Amino acid sequence: MEVQQFNREILNDLFAEADRMQIMCEYLDDNHVSGEDKKWCEGIWKKMAEKRIALLFYEPSTRTWSSFFVAAENLGARVMAIPPARQFSSVVKGETVKDTIAMFCGYGVDAIVMRTDKEGMAREADEAARASGRTVSIINAGDGAGQHPTQALLDLYTIKRFYDNELKKNIHSERINIAFVGDLANGRTVRSLAYLLNKYQDSEKLEFFFVSPSVLKMRDDIKEYLKKKKVKFTEYEKLIDVANKIDVFYMTRVQKERLGGIQVDYDFIRNNCSITKEVVKKLKKDVIVMHPLPRDPAFGEIPEWFDNDPRAKYIQQAENGLYVRMALLKKVLLG
Ligand code: CP
Repeated sequence: MEVQQFNREILNDLFAEADRMQIMCEYLDDNHVSGEDKKWCEGIWKKMAEKRIALLFYEPSTRTWSSFFVAAENLGARVMAIPPARQFSSVVKGETVKDTIAMFCGYGVDAIVMRTDKEGMAREADEAARASGRTVSIINAGDGAGQHPTQALLDLYTIKRFYDNELKKNIHSERINIAFVGDLANGRTVRSLAYLLNKYQDSEKLEFFFVSPSVLKMRDDIKEYLKKKKVKFTEYEKLIDVANKIDVFYMTRVQKERLGGIQVDYDFIRNNCSITKEVVKKLKKDVIVMHPLPRDPAFGEIPEWFDNDPRAKYIQQAENGLYVRMALLKKVLLG
């Protein structure tokens, strides 16, 4: 699964389903749900009871793993939660992803949610699932430094809800200035969201501001894609230079695990690519500050003192991941 496969219609359909999943969560929390909603929830639970979803993670995760786990459980599916693959599976002994996926396909799973540590493994897994001759969906839950499509889906859903519920504006009629800040070279979430926003918003209604130190600039493939789509983008090294122009901030941490030999000046990032008191003074009143999390306290891209600011949306953003992943699993497995 890559974000390039989505379009506005599919996304709106998925987001409407995600809205509805909140009703299912209320029902599960013992709140009263009646009529069509009750019937809808119970219909899904009945069909999902026949489905088995495997979680196969080669990399650490808090949010993606647990939200997929809870999403699968909330939908009434059976969950096969594999312990960390690089530590506890036969991957330690050199097993290939092709063989691992072939095994799971044979055990009757209907979907495999997969986080990999090398770009391209999700595609390899998809090919192995197809080769098995069974109907098994591979859901990419983060593919090395490549893509993180379900994160981009929940990010876009968060932005849309902000326009719908707080600004009371139709997102498609608004121009969005979005700043991607931090490690843009290695952050798979920014790459996926850049693609997905282009699938959702008309190009003349989008402008990207890439803020990073020169060694962590956005990769050329995304910039070429934006040029092809005629979407305006500019690059900066200091957040303060754009802070008053932005509608959506997307902060990221430095992906230390993917830096290779690159030397990063952390003091520069801390002072120039983070939410500081000086930056906050320049923010517009109606903006949202997002972050895929985890954040890095040592680096301080979003300090904890900002958490109570009404513009801080990263905790809500993570919660939205549950609804979006429930919607996605339902769409993939039941249509
Ligand atoms: N945002 C995100 O993917 O978080 P985890 O790595 O904790 O899953």
